[in-house]
Amino acid sequence: MHKLILVILMMTVASGVLAQGDPQPGDPGVGDSFLPGLGNGGYDVQHYTIDLDVDMNTGAIDATTTIEANATQDLSAFNLDFRGLEVVELTVNGEVAEFERNRSEMTITPAAPLGVDEAFTVVVTYKGVPNSFEDSAIPIAIGWNRYDTGIYVASEPSGAATWFPANDHPLDKATFTFEVTVDDPYVVAANGMLIETVEGDAETTYIFEASDPMATYLATVNVADFIRVEEAGPNGLLIRNYFPAVSAAQAEDYFSDTAEMIEYFNGIFGPYPFEVYGVVVADTNLGFALETQTMSLFGENVLENGFNGQLTIAHELAHQWFGDSVSPADWQHIWLNEGFASYAMVLWAEYKNGEGFADVVLANFHENLGSSTVPVAEPPVGGNLFNVAVYFRGALALHALRLEVGDEAFFNILRTYTNRFHDSNATTEDFMAVAEEVSGMELDEMFQTWLYKRDVPPFPEE
Ligand code: TRP
Ligand code: ZN
Repeated sequence: MHKLILVILMMTVASGVLAQGDPQPGDPGVGDSFLPGLGNGGYDVQHYTIDLDVDMNTGAIDATTTIEANATQDLSAFNLDFRGLEVVELTVNGEVAEFERNRSEMTITPAAPLGVDEAFTVVVTYKGVPNSFEDSAIPIAIGWNRYDTGIYVASEPSGAATWFPANDHPLDKATFTFEVTVDDPYVVAANGMLIETVEGDAETTYIFEASDPMATYLATVNVADFIRVEEAGPNGLLIRNYFPAVSAAQAEDYFSDTAEMIEYFNGIFGPYPFEVYGVVVADTNLGFALETQTMSLFGENVLENGFNGQLTIAHELAHQWFGDSVSPADWQHIWLNEGFASYAMVLWAEYKNGEGFADVVLANFHENLGSSTVPVAEPPVGGNLFNVAVYFRGALALHALRLEVGDEAFFNILRTYTNRFHDSNATTEDFMAVAEEVSGMELDEMFQTWLYKRDVPPFPEE
């Protein structure tokens, strides 16, 4: 009886103001617990085509981004994340659409609403000089960055919107095409396969196709006087590197372990997840490196970093499995990227130089932690997302897990995890569940100690 009244009441409401079938605006975020504004609801992007004309003298771009998406609800309006730059024209399904902008959110009202499951195309034409910025989550300039002799793009976690309109959250991966035109003799390096170069009078267009699903923050375009160097990797994998012409010989030598690293990681993590790999070395010094998908980004200064630099090279490569192929479902789970890539450095050191070396690196991690009491799996909102705990305590947590379950189960856990969540997303709970399933052990206490409690546990020993 009560139920019936409720149903009638709802039907009455539904036929009135809030008609149930009426298209609604998509959410302005995906509900990320660390960065709530990122991404948008109501649709799922399939493909981005990013067409850029870059003026290397002024730094300005003339751009068109085409987004092919599917509506996941009836939509009266939807958002894209987009910062700065002037929108010249915006169409949805070929018809001019209205839009409003508020900081990094752009709300688009198509001429006609979109139906659930409908495929639609958004074309945004825009121009201006892209600006990088510092997110509260990380104290470095993220997004599109210009330097004396070139451009690099490093966007983690929220910089993609500095150069293209996006559903900017790793939950919505898509494939990408990049068509970038620059004046000769500049060279463009972007994610994926170089499928065509079109020579103009004094300019060249470089067309790249990235056919593996990719999170928006991993998209990168680099411009400089690069030399492209190719080599064969394991199982016919193409390795193509972009080195600054001035330091190409030194860089080629410094990155010469890449094929061996891939082969080693193939064995312990499962098969390399993408169509191509390589690195791009920006023609400038950078205080970081980034695991941009299929083409990790480094600064020229890495060449002076000796064995530590080799560990960084292994770290970015390992991210292709941990972070890029398996992405965090929420930024809060960032240790699934950084802890794992940091532990991969330990594994590489161990493989290359013997067990004693792993202990040296691990001891260094433990020391670096100092008195940081950030719980690895729950970095406090508002703080630095890329804090020392998610890197080093995350790595030590994996080492503690390895000591607890033994080598065989440990590497089976890693391979099961990369296989189960490839081209997708995972949470800390997902990883813990795989660890318990594969080892057949109850690991709750160990994970609580290492991932959730504040106190730094003592150095893990056998
Ligand atoms: N993920 C990077 C690493 O390998 C660190 C990082 C986070 C970063 N955000 C970035 C690097 C932005 C460059 C730009 O540790
Ligand atoms: Zn990393």
